[in-house]
Amino acid sequence: MTRVVDLRPEHLTAPYVVDTPRPRLSWRLVDTVDGERQTGYEIHYAPHARAPRRVRHDGDETVLQRWSDGDIGPRERVDVRVRAWTSASDEPTPWSAPITIERTLTANDWTSDFVSPSLEAQEDEPRPAFLLRAEFDVPADVVGARAYVTAHGVADLEVNGCDATDSILSPGWTSYDHRLVVETLDLRRLLTPGRNALGVWLADGWYRGRLGFGGGLWNVYGNDVSLLLQLELYHADGRRITVPLDWRWSHAPITRTGLYEGEHHDARRHPRGWSEPGFDDAAWHATTVLHRDATVELAAPTGPPVRVVETLRPASFHRCEDGRIRIDVGQNITGKLRVRGRAPRGLAIELHHAEVLEGSELATRPLRTADAIDRYTFAGEGTETWTPRFTLHGFRFAEIVGWPSDRDLPEVEALVVHSDMRRRGTFASSHALLDRFHENVVWSMRDNFVGLPIDCPQRDERLGWTGDVQVFAPAAAFLYDVTGVLQSWLRDLADEQRDFGSVRSFHPWVDCGFPADPAAGWGDAAVIVPWTLFERTGDLRILADALPSMTAWVDEVTALADQGHWRSGFQLGDWLDPRATPERPGDSATDPYLVATAYHAYTAALLARACRLLGDEERTVRYEAVAARARAAFRHEYVTPSGRIVADSITSLAMAITFGLLSCDELPTAGQRLRALVEEADHRVMTGFLGTPLVCDALVRTGFPDTAYHLLLQTACPSWLYPVTMGATTVWERWDSMLPDGSINPGEMTSFNHYALGAVADFLHRTVAGLAPAEPGYRRIRVAPVPGGGLTHARASHQSPYGPVTVSWHRRGTLFELDVRVPPGTSAEVIMPGGSEVITLESGAHQLGRSFRAAADDPPMPRRWNIHDPLERAEMERLAPQAAKEATP
Ligand code: BGC
Repeated sequence: MTRVVDLRPEHLTAPYVVDTPRPRLSWRLVDTVDGERQTGYEIHYAPHARAPRRVRHDGDETVLQRWSDGDIGPRERVDVRVRAWTSASDEPTPWSAPITIERTLTANDWTSDFVSPSLEAQEDEPRPAFLLRAEFDVPADVVGARAYVTAHGVADLEVNGCDATDSILSPGWTSYDHRLVVETLDLRRLLTPGRNALGVWLADGWYRGRLGFGGGLWNVYGNDVSLLLQLELYHADGRRITVPLDWRWSHAPITRTGLYEGEHHDARRHPRGWSEPGFDDAAWHATTVLHRDATVELAAPTGPPVRVVETLRPASFHRCEDGRIRIDVGQNITGKLRVRGRAPRGLAIELHHAEVLEGSELATRPLRTADAIDRYTFAGEGTETWTPRFTLHGFRFAEIVGWPSDRDLPEVEALVVHSDMRRRGTFASSHALLDRFHENVVWSMRDNFVGLPIDCPQRDERLGWTGDVQVFAPAAAFLYDVTGVLQSWLRDLADEQRDFGSVRSFHPWVDCGFPADPAAGWGDAAVIVPWTLFERTGDLRILADALPSMTAWVDEVTALADQGHWRSGFQLGDWLDPRATPERPGDSATDPYLVATAYHAYTAALLARACRLLGDEERTVRYEAVAARARAAFRHEYVTPSGRIVADSITSLAMAITFGLLSCDELPTAGQRLRALVEEADHRVMTGFLGTPLVCDALVRTGFPDTAYHLLLQTACPSWLYPVTMGATTVWERWDSMLPDGSINPGEMTSFNHYALGAVADFLHRTVAGLAPAEPGYRRIRVAPVPGGGLTHARASHQSPYGPVTVSWHRRGTLFELDVRVPPGTSAEVIMPGGSEVITLESGAHQLGRSFRAAADDPPMPRRWNIHDPLERAEMERLAPQAAKEATP
């Protein structure tokens, strides 16, 4: 029987705490029969202190339906259930499981102020953490309790000796001058009638710790580190009291901690029972009260908390001769180690981290000035378990230094930490290396979505680079539910853009020496990221909210450009073109102003479409004209009459083809030239951050899927699969972050965990497997696989807003078999490979077959090796040992 499941407000994951008085609701239908559609639904609203109400609506939409009860008041909680009527029955479905939606405090409801143990940040070096405690009475008739918590810094709350939350590094990093995220915690189960205690661990975090490269900046947001916590108790008779708290502080056993530096913890200094009632805090100090800056918004989180999402047992341990214990986690992760063992009081161990080994040592040079060293001093009291609290590292390998050689190894686990987003998409194929590459993309995404999307998790950077997210957003939105995380980041971008009058190359912005000027492909994130979210969720409100930011960006570039041609000023261009030298990563084969003008035309056109969808005719016309002018400028400056591009590079052609800058007549020439250049490059990648995501699409679009597959499945460096052959477990920043002989790229910017070059995963989902939205939010689905490369199977699945969509194909001889699962409330338009007919499928499971043979099946050409180049020689020995032996001079 049909059921309603997965009821949720906005784009949230539980617990459902909202700022808005009228959150929109989504749900899914399951156990439907083929073609079944919703015809109406009823919402049951049960506010905790008011009479329940039911509202019935007609309609087939199950996604983001408007709230049709009265406003949810501040602090109010409402239980909500939904049932539906469908085309398959006159009877409604059973009611869904209820969810509780709670509204947080509004600005006026805050009466508490910040309390601080430390108002002056002294040395520019990692500082100690603090403990804060306060006791209070809970009368016997208390039936409910809420703590609203945020901090200047990072804070962990304990209640009567127990953790009050499993979130990590709360409140996360936002543009703190504009917005602080507040956790709303239900403390009822932790309180007891009588005396109770709150205890808070508090440290600098992003607020006051070091941020940015080139030495970075300290105290970016202020000199204080402080806590804002409002505790409210509810009595049985409905009264609510805000508990006055007299906070006292002491130094924590964490003697220094920094996000880049690591953490030192001296367990001998741990005050037993400090977060329990009755602890003697006479020697502790009074905190200083700081008034809140009313211009800073205190907001509910839009994304899920950062948590320990997985625990990994290391793949291997090895005792080095000098006593160091080498650990291989087996996977490059963002997180930290947890160590468990017995050791004498005062024994200190250090944990060192690195992503890769160079020779037989931890390769720490790529970390630059991020030490990533944790230190623990044992209290000597039985078995001790410890993990650092306020730091994260990007690592696969680690070493424990200082563990006595006569003792059994300590127990070690690796804790994987990131935003706890819901997984949405999968991909698998018959090609083992391609599957491992896809898995690496998933890991790089996980490792770099830590409250906000960052570039890399290991070195002294970890910043919200706009260009990186912009190219990766489509793949990200397929793999995980990223809407909440990216909405929060877009808020930061928009808030800071208003301040600076420009989109910077990363947000939140830290003025650590990077040019503040706008850069194409980076600032364009202001338009492309909201557009991508809209495309994948169907939520027009995302566009409406982002519109001021989108228009401000396009207006800014319009003013900078000369009649549509962006031809001056700072640019990052096709960043990290593999032909650029390690020291000059911006040197690209493609003119950066060509890239800038192409992006201007592309994003102005997207903005015009957004304005049209939002019903803003005047702006639609305006931005269509801006886009047309930029396109004309691009064509005038860079396109020859027959369709070649003056820069004659893979990136420029791919950009012109996929951004719609060429006419239909010109496409064949451009496609052929693109193919020729890819072939001339021996099917190795010759594009940087901006060109790379576009090449395979451009080749398929102009009729050369064989070349696209050849490029995609290349294993020689530079290529997507080369790192896989080198044992990579994440996507690298540079194609050759590790050279074929195992040495590390000498560039000072060499990370082994950047998602940007993994953006091609979107091509795997959309084109190799063939699953894409045909209409925003997957209300109509496009299934158009393009098989090739000798693959005999590919499969993608995606949890769309309407339910799971699956596309799976097999080649058996010349027979192409396709299985498609279409969720209720949607339809799919299928184009079989080699065909042009559009087959429409309603919801349900379908199987289709067709005889088909692809040119793209031809096996890739054998590689030509230059045996005189020592690096190529090393690579050849690794990849083609037999040929290497035969080629020995
Ligand atoms: C970051 C990149 C970023 C680039 C732009 C790097 O340091 O890691 O991913 O987009 O700088 O300059």
